[in-house]
Amino acid sequence: MEQAQDNAKKFSSQDLERLANNVPEVLYSATLTPDPRIVFFTTNATDLTGYGVDELISGWSDIIEPKDISRYNKTFERCQKTGKPCSVEYRINTKDEMTKEILDRVHPVFDDKGQVVGVDGMIMDITERKMIQDELEKNQMFQTLGKLGAGISHEINTPIQFISDNIHFLTDSLKQVFSLRDMYTALRDRAVGSSETLSADDFKPVIEAEAEADIDFLTDEIPKALEQSLEGMNRVLGIVTAMRDFSHIDDRSKSLADINKAMESTIVILRNELKYVAEVKTNFDPNLPMVMCSMDEISQVCMNLLINAAHSIDDVIEKGTDQRGVITVTTSSEGGRVIISISDTGAGIADDVREKIFEPFFTTKETGKGTGQGLAFARSIILEKHNGDIELDTEVGKGTTFRICLPIESEELPEK
Ligand SMILES: Nc1ncnc2c1ncn2[C@@H]1O[C@H](COP(=O)(O)OP(=O)(O)O)[C@@H](O)[C@H]1O
Ligand SMILES: [Mg+2]
Repeated sequence: MEQAQDNAKKFSSQDLERLANNVPEVLYSATLTPDPRIVFFTTNATDLTGYGVDELISGWSDIIEPKDISRYNKTFERCQKTGKPCSVEYRINTKDEMTKEILDRVHPVFDDKGQVVGVDGMIMDITERKMIQDELEKNQMFQTLGKLGAGISHEINTPIQFISDNIHFLTDSLKQVFSLRDMYTALRDRAVGSSETLSADDFKPVIEAEAEADIDFLTDEIPKALEQSLEGMNRVLGIVTAMRDFSHIDDRSKSLADINKAMESTIVILRNELKYVAEVKTNFDPNLPMVMCSMDEISQVCMNLLINAAHSIDDVIEKGTDQRGVITVTTSSEGGRVIISISDTGAGIADDVREKIFEPFFTTKETGKGTGQGLAFARSIILEKHNGDIELDTEVGKGTTFRICLPIESEELPEK
């Protein structure tokens, strides 16, 4: 014990400084009053940025990517207001014109009255981590679509199957109708072309053939078969269109998007996945404003939430019965935001699980069913890339509602 105290005494402020400069992360300190101002950087800030410490102290915010600056400032405000540690990710432009992704963790410093007067911070270069995360996200999308492939082809196969049956039926029917027509033509030629008088007996084969063909039945069934085939074609078309809406997986730029239409497509694609466990009810706001967003990513997030809802319902419905739950998808707008809400009548989420659900790779599902990436992805897309929010209400035994809130107009996406 004494030895330990001795050792501690020997650790001088010089040692502390060396330690601070030697850890891979950049440490800094800032005062918040009257204005936020950085007063100290460890020397490794130069390794990170190429600029000298003095330049950085006076001009850190000048090297922050302009599009990220408001997010950066908001974090300081939040830390000051709440007195709690906060973190923010943003990009900086280094002296040799590279863009680096930064994770900045901000810890409040209090005066003796308990007011937040400054912050101590730690800056980490997460450029590489971001790249890996990006790849994972891309993979995640492909994985989901891959898994859905079987279901989607089933969805297309069913109408194709009955269209094909109908075409066989129509072919057979037409053969009979044409052969009847031939018989009638022959009779007509005999009646018109010669002076022959036809007797009832001459009509006998035609009447028999007509009875065999069951013309009344055909008259009823042919229009039905045609109508049903057209319906099937429309279903296939709907699925193919929805697939096409989903096929720009790599297009992550923002544009004005019709959320209702996107939700409809997402539900079409998931139909086979959902139909055995739940009835899907939709309640779309017909006056929903268009939203500036990366629609493919939002659709992917909603897809994840819908699959989660289905899994959760699957856990509570009695197997071997045709019992199903309900998934309700609602869109609405309020206070400059559009809200997509996805409710399920599933198992709900217990408190100890709820704390962890947004962590990457956290899953309560068996391997193969869950990878634990869905909600981490959702969080990254909605919060970081769209400046939105994900809220949830849940009650064990009753179900869960996830709400995605998107600002109608948002800043441009970080460039890829
Ligand atoms: N609608 C829901 N109802 C109940 N639990 C849910 C729901 N959505 C998510 N969860 C819980 O959150 C965990 C993490 O979800 P997610 O990130 O999508 O990963 P995964 O679905 O692969 O497990 C799930 O394993 C589950 O325990
Ligand atoms: Mg999931």
